[in-house]
Amino acid sequence: MTQNREAWGSRFGFVLAAAGSAVGLGNIWKFPYIAGENGGAAFIFIYLICIAIIGFPVLIAEILIGRTTKKNPVGAFAALTDSKLWVSVGFLGVIAGFMILSFYSVIGGWTIGYVVETMRGSLTHFATPDEAGILFGSLVGDIRWGIGFHSLFFALVMLIVIRGVKGGIERASKIMMPVLLSILVILIIRGVTLEGASKGLAFLWVPDWSKINGQSVLIALGHAFFTLSLGMGAMLTYGSYMSKRDNVVSSAALIVFLDTLIAIMAGVAIFTAVFASGLNPAAGPGLIFQTLPAVFSTMPGGDYFSFLFFLLLAIAALTSAISLLEVVVAYFVDEKGWSRKTAVLIFGGVIYLLGIPSALSFNLLADAKIFDKTFFDVVDFTASNVLLPFGGLMIAIFAGWIWSRTAVMTAVKAGAENLFEAYPWFEGLWFLFLKYVAPVLITLVLLKSLGIL
Ligand code: PFF
Repeated sequence: MTQNREAWGSRFGFVLAAAGSAVGLGNIWKFPYIAGENGGAAFIFIYLICIAIIGFPVLIAEILIGRTTKKNPVGAFAALTDSKLWVSVGFLGVIAGFMILSFYSVIGGWTIGYVVETMRGSLTHFATPDEAGILFGSLVGDIRWGIGFHSLFFALVMLIVIRGVKGGIERASKIMMPVLLSILVILIIRGVTLEGASKGLAFLWVPDWSKINGQSVLIALGHAFFTLSLGMGAMLTYGSYMSKRDNVVSSAALIVFLDTLIAIMAGVAIFTAVFASGLNPAAGPGLIFQTLPAVFSTMPGGDYFSFLFFLLLAIAALTSAISLLEVVVAYFVDEKGWSRKTAVLIFGGVIYLLGIPSALSFNLLADAKIFDKTFFDVVDFTASNVLLPFGGLMIAIFAGWIWSRTAVMTAVKAGAENLFEAYPWFEGLWFLFLKYVAPVLITLVLLKSLGIL
């Protein structure tokens, strides 16, 4: 089966698909508001350090495990060790894929819903964010709206993944990623040319250190995982379709660069517009769905910018969602010998159904709380704050301590011989971060998430 396993058409295709996985709701929806709540530039500075010392080293390791074994997360660990413990780490990744995709598709559905609402002209007539908030509440509170757009979003995800790695995921990424970048550029130009935009830029570049504390460092670190799609085998699975001739280190660097660039570009587009309209930047999760529609309402041509913005979000969500489904599909194709089509239809269907209680968490089940959290919040919290950091921790430990260093170095040097010759210090630094820095810091994030710290 390994012989005719699917593969990317080119390294560029892989980088775009992996960047598509990384760039998602995390960059455009979450990053701007957590930066807004945690001191703007100061938070961004700390986030960049977390990405460099944890995200980048773990990303290289994760892609490498996939590329070396040419397997899904479960099969990959089974190929490299005899220990059941590591195989269950892979299995947890597949479960995290199930969980994240189920709620991610609900928000992905909202983004498509907002594109449609903009086209219907219902999104750009607000005098205040509160008014936009009322519409938001009534949209997500409507069962048919929530489930309808969740279904549409999920159907698109399945349609892409069913077409395979090269013909589906790579092709879709090659179309959607350039569109995403172009939309962002248009929105940035609009943002920075608004009167009062410089206040938004100052907010992003002038640090307010007083807002930084242990808590914000942990938020930055946790987000570094989510945004790079680390810790659940999505990058491992994408890496498994990569050629041994390609350079893992420079590909990982490019993915990190694109992900960070796009998060910062989204911050510039959003904050210039928000400050120019005199609104509050620390608006929390409602920044995108409540504050921005009010901002667009104040702009000439706001309808067009609103359409572009929500299309941007929908594209970003879609290219991430396909990587989540691919983890699950790769598992059933590699380990159980299923056809891609059957795996997509059956397990896509299961994940879709699991998303329904998440969609209902904003209406019918809003009061059904488990430990004071809705179903949506429980799934989100368990997967994003517990399973991802745990998976990332295990990947760092595996590559740093369990897999023999000679084997790791042989694997990573394939396709990157020149890089390791030109920068001989890179090996030592990479291992320093994998063996010590990442495990200690990730353990802190986990303890914090579990309320122990
Ligand atoms: N990286 C995505 C984002 O920033 O929205 C989220 C994500 C996708 C997390 C895929 C994990 C994953 F496997």
